[in-house]
Amino acid sequence: MASNRKSLLNTMMKHRKRLDDQPMRLLFALDPNRFRRFSVSAGDLLLDYSKNRIDEKAMDALFALARAADFEGRRKAMWAGKHINSTEDRAVMHMALRYQGDKPVKIDGRDVMPDVREVLAHMKLFTSQVRDGTIRGTTGEKFTDIVNIGIGGSDLGPVMATLALAPYTRPDLRSHYVSNVDGAQLHDTLQRLDPKRTMFIVASKTFTTDETMTNAASARAWVATALGDKAVSDHFAAVSTNLKACDAFGIREDRIFGFWDWVGGRYSVWSAIGLPVALAVGFDNFSAFLAGAYEMDQHFLKTRLEKNLPVIMGLLGVWYRNAWGFATHAVLPYDQRLSRFPAYLQQQDMESNGKQVNLEGKPLDYDSGPVIWGEPGTNGQHAFYQLIHQGTSVVPADFLIAANPHEDMAPHHEKLVANVLAQSEALMLGKTREEVVAELTAQGLDKASIKALTPHKMFPGNRPSNTLIYPKLTPAMLGSLVALYEHKVFVQGTIWNVNSYDQWGVELGKQLAKAILPKVQGTAANTGNDASTKGLLAHYHKLRG
Ligand code: F6P
Repeated sequence: MASNRKSLLNTMMKHRKRLDDQPMRLLFALDPNRFRRFSVSAGDLLLDYSKNRIDEKAMDALFALARAADFEGRRKAMWAGKHINSTEDRAVMHMALRYQGDKPVKIDGRDVMPDVREVLAHMKLFTSQVRDGTIRGTTGEKFTDIVNIGIGGSDLGPVMATLALAPYTRPDLRSHYVSNVDGAQLHDTLQRLDPKRTMFIVASKTFTTDETMTNAASARAWVATALGDKAVSDHFAAVSTNLKACDAFGIREDRIFGFWDWVGGRYSVWSAIGLPVALAVGFDNFSAFLAGAYEMDQHFLKTRLEKNLPVIMGLLGVWYRNAWGFATHAVLPYDQRLSRFPAYLQQQDMESNGKQVNLEGKPLDYDSGPVIWGEPGTNGQHAFYQLIHQGTSVVPADFLIAANPHEDMAPHHEKLVANVLAQSEALMLGKTREEVVAELTAQGLDKASIKALTPHKMFPGNRPSNTLIYPKLTPAMLGSLVALYEHKVFVQGTIWNVNSYDQWGVELGKQLAKAILPKVQGTAANTGNDASTKGLLAHYHKLRG
């Protein structure tokens, strides 16, 4: 952080100290307008952030921190196509992929919108032709199963969105996702499928990722064995920035969907990487997903900081990470169909802001991105919420809930809503000694039992959470939610002064795996590694006989 930001960070600490003595239950008791004062909307999406350890003075200090970090300048630079991904010398322009306006969107002086629209038109045609049966398998059968082969950003976004939008899918066109190099995943997927009716999409920005290329080669062999080598071109499509490599794999030109180096892998679900989503839900719904993200972009770009959802969520994250030292952040959707949303956000957030040096390459002397984790409620309540309520670590949490379910199954949704409201209330209020004693006394327990049980039954409370509530999980709302979190990551990366758009931290493991593979395969001697790796390799070979 620049020195003025550092001093603002110190100011934040002063606010923290002040708020240390002010439990949230007291702040709520003193201010009947707290919900109104600390909730904001973007379109149909409401963020209630009143159950946080904040007051107006603390929020003002956070907004000042954003301004000191020139958040507004950096946001402008991103949307102007500047190469803010400095270590890879690239623009960061995923917002162009969902841009609904009619102005040019320029990178290096060139309007990228004609290219974006051309790929979208290609996706639309392909999607409708697969869905209506114009495009068929090599034997003339309609496609009933689409297998996306990709990993990281070429998997997590599409799989998350396909699950989230299940009510918009068709039972006669099923989606499958294979990402892991562990053959178990491809094996178990293929076992259920008929090659004559199966289409594969090989999705890889680089078209060199080992896991994806290994799975794609095995899938190709599966098709060729069943239907002959010529069938491959009828059963494969590809999405990549590396068009030459797609061609070399044997993909037909009209089944190759391109995108560009200014789209980061974890920000690519809006590009042709979203093709399996478009196939699953239809192109109109995919377009609505893009339009929902555009709505959030407009909110992010145009709304003043004090009313800006991604800014507020980003700043609260910085507040807890740097002023309070909370190391993790939970995302808890009370929406079963968002079951992969936390996993998707893990890549989006942790690959972006899990950084140890600033933009100038200097070591950070403050913490950057937290660990992101989560599971859908109410399952989490019966698993890890114990720690969130009574553990020694404080875990700030985001709760997500739709007002309307897709299915008419009373009383399920009412119970879901009651639970999400109860959890954030319980985290905030806690349960005092007096309350526990009164409860146990009312239950008729004797004094000794009350004394013994009371500490176990007390809840510290004062545990922060945000609640996001929306009318229904539609394609547009999903688009808005995903874009909201993308921009939150941008806000935090700006304050921490890190490059949120590279990911060098994934390279070392890849390099070492390449070097170790021949030793696993037994074509190279087990030498040169550390004693642990050597010992494990030797034991592995022993187990393999
Ligand atoms: O894990 C590293 C990474 O480069 C991610 O950023 C990316 O989403 C993933 O690998 C897959 O890369 P590709 O789409 O090039 O296969």
